[in-house]
Amino acid sequence: MKCTVCKGPAVIDVRRHNANFCADHFLKLVRDQVGKAIKDFAMLTRDDRALVAVSGGKDSLAVWDILLELGYAADGLYLGLGIGDYSDASGEMARSFASSRGLRLIEVDLPTDHGFDIPTGAKAARRVPCSACGLSKRHLFDEAARTGGYDVVVTGHNLDDEAAVLFGNVLHWQTDYLGRQLPVLPARHGFPRKVKPLVRLGEREMAAYCVLRGIDYIVEECPMADGNKHLGYKEALNAIEATSPGTKHDFYFGFLARASDRFTPDAETEQSNLGACSRCGAPTTGEVCAFCRLAERATAIPVALGREGGAR
Ligand code: AMP
Ligand code: FES
Ligand code: ZN
Ligand code: ZN
Repeated sequence: MKCTVCKGPAVIDVRRHNANFCADHFLKLVRDQVGKAIKDFAMLTRDDRALVAVSGGKDSLAVWDILLELGYAADGLYLGLGIGDYSDASGEMARSFASSRGLRLIEVDLPTDHGFDIPTGAKAARRVPCSACGLSKRHLFDEAARTGGYDVVVTGHNLDDEAAVLFGNVLHWQTDYLGRQLPVLPARHGFPRKVKPLVRLGEREMAAYCVLRGIDYIVEECPMADGNKHLGYKEALNAIEATSPGTKHDFYFGFLARASDRFTPDAETEQSNLGACSRCGAPTTGEVCAFCRLAERATAIPVALGREGGAR
């Protein structure tokens, strides 16, 4: 297998591009794809202060590394979600990446700072763990960006993630979610701008990027992911991609180019009803935001009890 660019020995094939790459040209491809996403969707400027949400996984550590390589100013944010050993190990990955490169990593710990962990929160709210987890993460990202004076929150969502979420939203015709499923959400109503610079790259490419760059990341999946529907959607899309490379890209980018606008009014209706949470000041459609309601219920349960029931 030869590199399509320089004819040297290739280390990876990217079937979607019908091409093979040596290590140097693969790293260049990844940076170019991120640069193109940033430019096409006007995600970031050199003057922005960016906060990269890092989970200790391959995508978010890679996007932090790539943004710095491309010359953007970016600090990291790690949220300790209290998911047992998994959280301890993922926090270690984020910390060692930051300290080995002299980077600033902000840490927020849900149990210490808000008095509950995800297993307890999910149990108290009778939600599936990922729902309590997603809600808490979004809230804490926004809060950390506001407190730290950051212009933009960067996440490591890649093409596989976005195509799977889109697939789920289409299967259930979640039109308000479809109206908001963009690689850039502008700052408004008190929310910081949110960007996903990895939308042009897949999971396999991000893993290869980390290996080639010597980035150590947590390989295990979250132990609470059982029953997460997106894993099933990813498998279904992978089966299609295996016989028709490029389908995921066409599905997601075709949606952005030709369909997403049509759902903007559905998303706007919800946004126009936003006020400030009476407890924490975060934007919300109710009197008290979903995070404060979750925290209230979760802190009514002793942490150890909730964890026992929720982590199964
Ligand atoms: P997930 O929802 O786990 O697929 O993660 C999506 C993105 O959210 C990741 O790529 C990270 O940017 C961010 N993220 C997930 N977990 C954490 C965490 N514990 N702390 C900070 N950011 C996170
Ligand atoms: Fe959903 Fe961890 S809580 S994957
Ligand atoms: Zn090459
Ligand atoms: Zn609140």
